[in-house]
Order: sequence, then C-alpha cells, then structure tokens
Amino acid sequence: MPVATDDQLLVKIHATTVNRTDCGYRAAKPFILRFFTGLIRPKRTVLGTEFAGEVEAVGSNVTSFKVGDRVFGYIEGRFGAHAEYLTVPEDASVAIMPANVTFDEAAASTEGSHYALANIQAAKIRSGQDVLVNGATGAIGSAAVQLLKSLGAHVTAVCSTEYLPLVERLGADRVIDYRTADFTADEQTYDVVFDAAGKSSFGRCKRLLKPNGIYLSTDLGPFPQNPILALITPLFRGKKVLFPIPRHDQQMVARIKGLLESKAFKPLIDRRYPLDEIVDAYRYVETGQKIGNVVICLTGRTE
Ligand SMILES: NC(=O)c1ccc[n+]([C@@H]2O[C@H](COP(=O)([O-])OP(=O)(O)OC[C@H]3O[C@@H](n4cnc5c(N)ncnc54)[C@H](OP(=O)(O)O)[C@@H]3O)[C@@H](O)[C@H]2O)c1
Repeated sequence: MPVATDDQLLVKIHATTVNRTDCGYRAAKPFILRFFTGLIRPKRTVLGTEFAGEVEAVGSNVTSFKVGDRVFGYIEGRFGAHAEYLTVPEDASVAIMPANVTFDEAAASTEGSHYALANIQAAKIRSGQDVLVNGATGAIGSAAVQLLKSLGAHVTAVCSTEYLPLVERLGADRVIDYRTADFTADEQTYDVVFDAAGKSSFGRCKRLLKPNGIYLSTDLGPFPQNPILALITPLFRGKKVLFPIPRHDQQMVARIKGLLESKAFKPLIDRRYPLDEIVDAYRYVETGQKIGNVVICLTGRTE
C-alpha cells in the first residue's frame, strides 16, 4: 500500500485504461523512448497513465482535495495507475470528477483527448474551417472529431466500413471509408489534415491541403520525418507540418473536465477488462484496432 507524502493524495482506483502511451512505454517503441524509460529494463514496472477513483487519504499540506472526493487525472511519466492504489502530488494533472460522468468515462477521458487538444490548439483550428481526421475511431481521433465539432469546424472523418455510423454520431459531417477509398485521393481540400492514426505522410497529404494548410500526425512518420518537417516547413510560406508535444498539467485536466461537463466530449469506450485480465487488454490494444478506449475496472464492473 503506497503512503501519501505531505503534498500527495492517496487515490483508491476505480477505473484506469490501457492506452497506446502505456503500450509505447511497455514495448519501448519507438527505441528512443528507452533513453527516458530505462535503457535495458523499464524504470517503472507498474504502468497506467489514466485514472479515476476516490481520495482515500491526503497529506498534511494538501488543501484542494479531501478524503472521499471523486478524482480523475493523467500521470504519464510517473505511471502507476494499473494498481488498486496510487499516490498523486496535489499539483499533478488531477481534478475533481464532473458529476455527470462515471469512473469508467472519467478514466478514459484524458489520454486521447489531450493529444487531440494539443494538435487542435497548435493548428489554431477555428469555426468554419475544413478539417480531415484520419483514424476517427481511435482514442485520439474519436476525441478530435467531437472537439472539432464543438469548435464549429467542418469535419471529414476517415474510418472503416462498420464504424461509419458511429463516427457520424460523433459529429462528422462527411465520412470516408478507408477500406473502399484512399482518402489521400479525395477531391476536396482542407485547412487541416489531422492523421490521428499516424498512417499517412505529409508528402501523400500535401495535395489535400489548401495553400496555407497544416498537416498534423500523431506518429513520427515512416522515416521518422514529422518532427524534422515540423522544424523546417514553418520557416517557409505555404503548407506546413506541425508536431506539438502535448502538455499535461492541472489546467489541461480542468479543460477536459469542462468539456465533459458541457457534453462537448464523451470518451468512446470499446472494451472493459478486470485488472487480472490486463495482459489480454494489452494484447488487444496492441492490435491497433481498438475503438476509442479500453478500460480496466477495479471495482468488479466489466459491463
Ligand atoms: N508512442 C506514444 O506514446 C503514443 C501515444 C499515443 C498515441 N500514439 C500514436 O497515435 C496513434 C493513435 O493513437 P490512438 O490511441 O488514437 O490509437 P488507437 O485508439 O489504438 O487507434 C486505433 C484505431 O485506428 C484505426 N485505424 C487503424 N488503421 C487505420 C488506417 N489505416 N486508417 C484509418 N484508421 C485506422 C482503427 O480502426 P479499424 O479497426 O477500423 O482499422 C482503430 O479504431 C497511434 O498510431 C499511436 O501509435 C503514440
């Protein structure tokens, strides 16, 4: 049982997730991650970045949370949410849960959405702009479609045949089935192409962009060129690549809380597993085929 220090909360976890960030760290992919997470073996042996639960104890200096508060948050770097109890610094990315969401939903609401938010903010996307989202069924893509719609953007979403109705329900104005059509051959042009599945390249998407259009991707790219293009292309006029590093702090969680409360965003939940089946959850997430988020329920509810 971890013990909260003077500036920490002890949280009894009700729900957590297995996400692509956990999988990236677990498998040390891309390789460069090893320089941060442990060259030979992982520094952190309990993963888990997203959590929702109840405050069980607080340190003597803690003033903004009390025992019994329902809290949620994101702890990339620290990890440790794949456990019954977690200690979190009071000033970490943690907030009181909105009253209108369940523990499962709160747990699934931070990872994908903060990547989506970081990209949307970096590209300064505004009402009326045309945006294409590839990978609209993923954790990041499904959050991006909802957040873009709440901003008033006109969204074209790319996903596979069976999920076309789901993505329309998330708010997409137009859908492209990637099983039957190549979205990079689309006739329409866009202010922003956001590849939330990281399956394309700037080169392939350039013709889709309006003259000052922006290409965003959640992956480094095949070579891996996206971070380099993000340094070079903004130096010139015209089409460019942005590759923002997402920030996670208390402000970010407060922003997500507001989006949940206003119903601008509701995380998509695919499967739920109990903690003792977490290996199966990892195997599933690593297929790259999950729809939205995979939740680990620690309070016995897997339906
Ligand atoms: N390294 C890191 O720390 C890190 C962290 C977060 C995200 N990322 C990267 O960001 C990307 C998205 O993350 P995520 O969590 O949103 O992923 P995810 O939830 O695992 O996304 C999977 C979704 O992508 C769709 N998809 C797969 N291939 C596709 C294709 N060719 N075209 C369109 N959609 C496709 C799948 O739909 P179907 O089943 O219909 O194919 C599935 O719904 C991933 O590539 C991930 O590696 C990396």
